[in-house]
Amino acid sequence: MAEVSLIILAAGMGSRMNSDLPKVLHRLAGAPLLHHAMQTGRALDPTCTVIVTGHGAEAVEKCALAYDPDVLTVRQEQQLGTGHAVAQALPLSGKGGDTVILYGDTPFIRAETLEAMRAARSRHSVVVLGFHHDDEGRYGRLVAEGENLSRIVEYKDASDEERAITLCNSGVICADSAVLPELVAAIDTNNASGEYYLTDIVAVARAKGLSAGLVVCDEAETLGINTRAELAAAESAFQANARAEAMETGVTLTAPETVFFSLDTFIGRDALIGPNVVFGPRVTIESGAEILAFCHLEGCHISRGATVGPFARLRPGTELAEDVHVGNFVEVKNSILDEGVKVGHLTYLGDAEVGEKTNIGAGTITCNYDGVNKHRTKIGPRSFIGSSTMLVAPVTIGRDAMTGSGSVITEDVPAEALAIGRARQVNKAGLAVRLMDLFLSKKKKG
Ligand code: UD1
Ligand code: CA
Repeated sequence: MAEVSLIILAAGMGSRMNSDLPKVLHRLAGAPLLHHAMQTGRALDPTCTVIVTGHGAEAVEKCALAYDPDVLTVRQEQQLGTGHAVAQALPLSGKGGDTVILYGDTPFIRAETLEAMRAARSRHSVVVLGFHHDDEGRYGRLVAEGENLSRIVEYKDASDEERAITLCNSGVICADSAVLPELVAAIDTNNASGEYYLTDIVAVARAKGLSAGLVVCDEAETLGINTRAELAAAESAFQANARAEAMETGVTLTAPETVFFSLDTFIGRDALIGPNVVFGPRVTIESGAEILAFCHLEGCHISRGATVGPFARLRPGTELAEDVHVGNFVEVKNSILDEGVKVGHLTYLGDAEVGEKTNIGAGTITCNYDGVNKHRTKIGPRSFIGSSTMLVAPVTIGRDAMTGSGSVITEDVPAEALAIGRARQVNKAGLAVRLMDLFLSKKKKG
């Protein structure tokens, strides 16, 4: 297929969000709305992507570049309408093949739908994505006969008969890159809003003797976010879809409705996810791993055969190799746990490397932060860290070593050594009974 350029409109303020944050930066499934649109667009493998920014431009540009450092951004200083927004992008976007225009606040458009529009492009210079909407709705109306579109009339400008049309404009457009600039250049502001309507390119194309067509998709796909309530509804739609998809690809979810995914969550086949598990951004889980109830994961990789939880928290930079076990009330951050490591209970591992088959006793803490800097803890393979060991970083424990339970380890431990860093125990014969008698007699007097 011919090359494709992508333009994403993201200059609007989104005043109905009632927020200091530009609308496209609000999060859906752990990712800014803009990333959802960019992910859809990426499926087309575009030769160039231009993001039009305006409100909160600096933050929106940063967000776009974080997803893909190759995108181009252009500022629309004044938001004079969708047609004006596209006009800003055209000098930067590709001159050949197709140009696809998406909105940054419309997260659910499917790649298959865009492919269908591109296929329809072989028959039309401009293809518009429509959907059927039964209520009044302030959408632009598509004036069409079958697949042939004659014009789009905005709700504000529509007559009663036109408002009765149930075929509406989603906003997504696929056009011949070679003619798009002249179509956009012909748009004026002669309408009820005094804006440059992108939708006018349909009538302009027809007047030039070019053909315009339409592809119809499900209304759910075209859902745009304008309010916090719509954002919440979109979140729930996303999650329902992600759960169904996970199960279809062979993941067991014991209580699907209690599991929450991020846009980029990846879970391999035959993994098992218990109830009440939350996946923050950047989590990958290999086949056959088990995440038990009430776990919170973010920015981590879990290998085959590993088990996590119940009640574990894995924070960014955590890598669990095969067959690692992380149990209840364990927090791991920025740490690599090699094959077969066991961290069963009540432990914090931060900025640590743990060698294979090492066992970390209950209540162990890597004291990684001195109030200013973070320090690393290295623990060799096959070591045994006694319960409630404080590992004051930076510190290295050699292979096949041990620490005595309750130790505060401030110095490196050589391979094969046992380190004990605690006060020696003394037993005072009979003192327990004598003390108890003393306390009781004091209580009686007082
Ligand atoms: C637009 C369509 C309407 C369609 C509806 C679907 C036009 C004229 N109307 O209306 O037919 O039914 O979407 O939701 O296109 N934007 C800019 N710069 C601007 C104006 C808008 O970047 O100057 C961006 C917004 O940030 C947003 C998108 O374009 O992402 C759509 O703009 P919006 O004002 O929401 O258009 P609607 O009035 O909803
Ligand atoms: Ca809108």
